[in-house]
Amino acid sequence: MEGLTKIYNGEVLAVDNISFEVYEGEIFGFLGPNGAGKTTTINMLNTLIKPTKGYAELYGYVLGKEDDKIRRIIGLVPQELTADDELTGYENIMLQASLYGVDKTTAKKRAEDLLNMVDLYDAANRLVKTYSGGMRRRLELVMGLIHYPKILFLDEPTLGLDVQTRAKIWEYIRNLRKEYGITIFMTTHYMEEADQLCDRIGIIDKGKIIALGTPRELKNMLKGDIILAEVNNLNNFDTKELPKIISEIKDVKVVDGKLAITTERGENTLPKIINILTEKGVNVTSVELLKPSLEQVFLYLTGRKIREEEALDSIKMRAIMRRRRRM
Ligand SMILES: Nc1ncnc2c1ncn2[C@@H]1O[C@H](COP(=O)(O)OP(=O)(O)OP(=O)(O)O)[C@@H](O)[C@H]1O
Ligand SMILES: [Mg+2]
Repeated sequence: MEGLTKIYNGEVLAVDNISFEVYEGEIFGFLGPNGAGKTTTINMLNTLIKPTKGYAELYGYVLGKEDDKIRRIIGLVPQELTADDELTGYENIMLQASLYGVDKTTAKKRAEDLLNMVDLYDAANRLVKTYSGGMRRRLELVMGLIHYPKILFLDEPTLGLDVQTRAKIWEYIRNLRKEYGITIFMTTHYMEEADQLCDRIGIIDKGKIIALGTPRELKNMLKGDIILAEVNNLNNFDTKELPKIISEIKDVKVVDGKLAITTERGENTLPKIINILTEKGVNVTSVELLKPSLEQVFLYLTGRKIREEEALDSIKMRAIMRRRRRM
């Protein structure tokens, strides 16, 4: 993507001049609060909406010029689920397959494999309206994969699901990458999910990319890890000496009788710290290593928190509105 921009109705700047690259075979996470521009970005790349400005290329196909080809290599599991309630899971999959021009025999075989992969085989012949939220998500995953795309876009694949179901979905996503080598571009509100699942993360806020990197790189933007060390007595050791001895240490404070040491790569400095303290006659009775989280990164960058509950509320509202419209 190069300078990709979307202005809705000439006034709402939803995506503001974003440029970055997603690598083949990676799980890329797009993280940001409500209204940040995640879905808008995904929908531009999916050819569903036209960018106002900018350039994007998917596997060499130019967005806006080769959209037919792009549609053939991408799969989408949208934020607003699309499976038809009045059909069975299997019928939905076969419908999707025919829309993509996958022949029936191939589709059947793939459907079987994919349904097995997401543990939905036994429920395939039930009407979708009897499915739970997690089952719907899994069905949508199969639907998005039936034409064997090279890139799969997942817009909030786990929103509103319970912790176990979310963990299951992560497993499917990991498997997909492993078995099919698919590139995955997903959005999420869940920091922990992005952290555990994604190779790289882009944080978007108010339409702008404010950070991009591996979860580790992003967390390294913070001053560092914190080591909390409980000591019996300091034995006249001046803790200000520590940063001079170990260059990774940024700061040392005494908090509630514990040493709070801010350091880069805590797992490496921790043994050194214990050695030095012991050498100086300081008796360390317990240590705790606190790693910075993506939540803290977002807070650090924006001064605000990403609110997970808010996202859920907005999805629920939209679902209610949709149902009303149908009635
Ligand atoms: N069709 C539209 N017309 C006008 N404005 C829109 C439209 N779709 C989205 N927007 C606005 O564009 C901005 C980005 O919305 P978008 O849906 O891309 O955000 P998001 O990051 O996906 O948010 P969420 O986490 O709630 O899904 C918001 O201000 C939103 O109100
Ligand atoms: Mg969205």
